[in-house]
Amino acid sequence: MASMKEVFIYPDLHITIDDAPIPVPGDNDIIVKIVVAGANPIDWKAADEKVAQLIHGDLKAPLHRNAGKDFAGYVHAVGSKVLNFKVGDRVIALNHSSGFAEYGVGPAHTTAHIPDNVTFEEAATTGLAYTTAALGLFKHLRFKGPWAPSKVKTPLLVYGASSATGAFTVKLAALANIHPIIAIAGKSGDIVSSILEPSKGDILLDYRIGKDALAQEVRKSAPELHYVVDSISNNDTVDMLSPLLAREESSYVFMLGGPHQERLPAYIKAETPFAPGLWEPTDPASPDGPEGLNIAPKAFTHAFFSYMTFALQEGLLKGHPYEVLPNGLASIGDGMVGLRDGKNSGNKYLFRIADTPGLGSK
Ligand SMILES: NC(=O)c1ccc[n+]([C@@H]2O[C@H](COP(=O)([O-])OP(=O)(O)OC[C@H]3O[C@@H](n4cnc5c(N)ncnc54)[C@H](OP(=O)(O)O)[C@@H]3O)[C@@H](O)[C@H]2O)c1
Repeated sequence: MASMKEVFIYPDLHITIDDAPIPVPGDNDIIVKIVVAGANPIDWKAADEKVAQLIHGDLKAPLHRNAGKDFAGYVHAVGSKVLNFKVGDRVIALNHSSGFAEYGVGPAHTTAHIPDNVTFEEAATTGLAYTTAALGLFKHLRFKGPWAPSKVKTPLLVYGASSATGAFTVKLAALANIHPIIAIAGKSGDIVSSILEPSKGDILLDYRIGKDALAQEVRKSAPELHYVVDSISNNDTVDMLSPLLAREESSYVFMLGGPHQERLPAYIKAETPFAPGLWEPTDPASPDGPEGLNIAPKAFTHAFFSYMTFALQEGLLKGHPYEVLPNGLASIGDGMVGLRDGKNSGNKYLFRIADTPGLGSK
């Protein structure tokens, strides 16, 4: 069986690079020869059992070891039911947990073509953050998609707007004509400032002005606020942002679930998008459809991944700023520690597989 190198992440965030079989596609899978892999906070959190348990309750083991969710590369093989991809295509894939390796598995509903004007690096910044932002706005808050832009003016507050999920929320909200956008960021606020449209009431606020001044500014711009997307999601943000929401018909999107959600007043609806849930069977009682079929989440991501190719090609959507760490797969441990310690401010960490010592000439 052909083999490849794959990174395993351990609870203390040290890594090993091990041999593993090159994955074989299921019917709906695309196997990708990875050129660039991208890191997300869940990669270190899932490797750290204590954090994983906090987020996921009674979990007894880490979620996974080869954590990488985002990668870009060339199609290597396709499953029997895959229609739109062929060997050699340039693609970006959000995947369940196979991205810190030479080859990964891109499910057809979360794989997209990369247009020629976009590099593998820019593409690798999109997957999980883009998808979570789309889920928050269009699945949980039920805004109309960017192909049917809203005609209703309703303020949207995005906290942590310079984070990857926050910035994609701002970008998608602007494309869907959701305004005014009240974007709250810190030193990386320039990531979203050019997207905001002051003529439509959008503003950028700096969270470092302090919570009282922030509340005052928000109330000025949005005296009646019904929608918050919180990319930071902790006790402080819930306590600061929930009093700004109207008592009727308000929703609060938590990008990160956890005990802080219990602080949300009962009159506000809590919404928690969870992109990795796209691969789990749906709750039969949910509006997403019967158990096992998982049709609605798949349809959702098919639509949004196809839209991503279009929007990147047309220059409507840009990736997130990034930093390429020097040694490919061998730098993943440093990337995890950097994310855990909040060193990545305003950047995605990326890893070029060919930069891995010993793999460059393959
Ligand atoms: N639900 C899901 O499926 C899902 C998917 C992806 C991510 N997440 C979660 O969502 C959260 C954000 O992930 P991400 O990838 O978007 O993060 P990220 O890009 O790593 O976020 C980094 C940014 O967060 C900002 N920040 C840090 N502390 C802040 C604070 N106290 N107030 C305001 N901004 C602060 C910083 O902004 P400045 O530099 O401007 O200060 C920094 O640039 C993480 O907890 C992650 O685990 C969940």
